[in-house]
Amino acid sequence: MKLAGNTVLVTGGASGIGLAIAERFLQAGSTVIICGRREDKLHEAKQQHPTLHARVCDVAQEQERKELYNWIRENFPKMNVLVNNAGIQRRVNPVDTQEPWSETQQELAINLEAPIHLCMLFAEHLKKQEKAAIINVTSGLAFTPAAFAPIYCATKAALHSFTVSLRFLLSKTSVEVLEIVPPAVNTDLGGVGLHTFGEPVDAFADSVMQRLDQGELEVGYGNSEQRRLASRQENDAFSEQMNQRMFSGS
Ligand SMILES: NC(=O)c1ccc[n+]([C@@H]2O[C@H](COP(=O)([O-])OP(=O)(O)OC[C@H]3O[C@@H](n4cnc5c(N)ncnc54)[C@H](OP(=O)(O)O)[C@@H]3O)[C@@H](O)[C@H]2O)c1
Repeated sequence: MKLAGNTVLVTGGASGIGLAIAERFLQAGSTVIICGRREDKLHEAKQQHPTLHARVCDVAQEQERKELYNWIRENFPKMNVLVNNAGIQRRVNPVDTQEPWSETQQELAINLEAPIHLCMLFAEHLKKQEKAAIINVTSGLAFTPAAFAPIYCATKAALHSFTVSLRFLLSKTSVEVLEIVPPAVNTDLGGVGLHTFGEPVDAFADSVMQRLDQGELEVGYGNSEQRRLASRQENDAFSEQMNQRMFSGS
């Protein structure tokens, strides 16, 4: 896909990877709409980039997803790119916790239910555009589960799987289906300070967005590029080492 000349919706576009994706579409001359739950973050992003359009939306809520779809259809009828980027990551042990089910349900709703439902809502609209794309943001952890965030990893593996099927199902239409597979990137994912060891967000976004612009359909960066291409045996060994390291505290 080309980054120029589109009308793009980026969920979770007010911060981190979503904002970096939004910025690259803007720089290429596309119209960009971002959404998220926090109005102050959307406002901050708009102050930085006055041409951005923004809407408060909690993608975990079915009704809000439908309202977002209707609002986009009405206000941005040429919208032709959906970026499913919004996500949360909880470090939790689901078999050793008293937390209510609603916490897990929320993670499933944001990371998996929302992107699937948004694809379903927008599919017909996107098919009517001359050129269109769906970009799903998964994770290197889709390929190498980490036991410190088991629900998160399951949602990302499922979203990768859904993306591959969607690509086939839309292959005879104008809609390209792309996947960004980030490694650990220095954002506020999971809480401030938890990803400072990650790749710098701009270097990561420059690389993956350039590769999408050049026509690649699935792109990783650094470590996640290796993991998305590795054998099952290599990834199992990677997961095992990661779990041993995380749980031994070394
Ligand atoms: N950073 C990494 O190491 C890494 C690695 C692999 C994959 N990823 C993926 O990259 C994507 C972006 O994450 P990030 O690293 O940029 O983290 P981030 O800075 O925390 O950004 C997440 C964004 O999603 C939005 N969001 C969360 N829940 C939402 C909801 N219910 N409705 C609407 N928006 C919501 C947040 O805004 P509000 O809180 O205002 O709603 C925020 O703008 C996620 O899908 C994440 O899983 C990140």
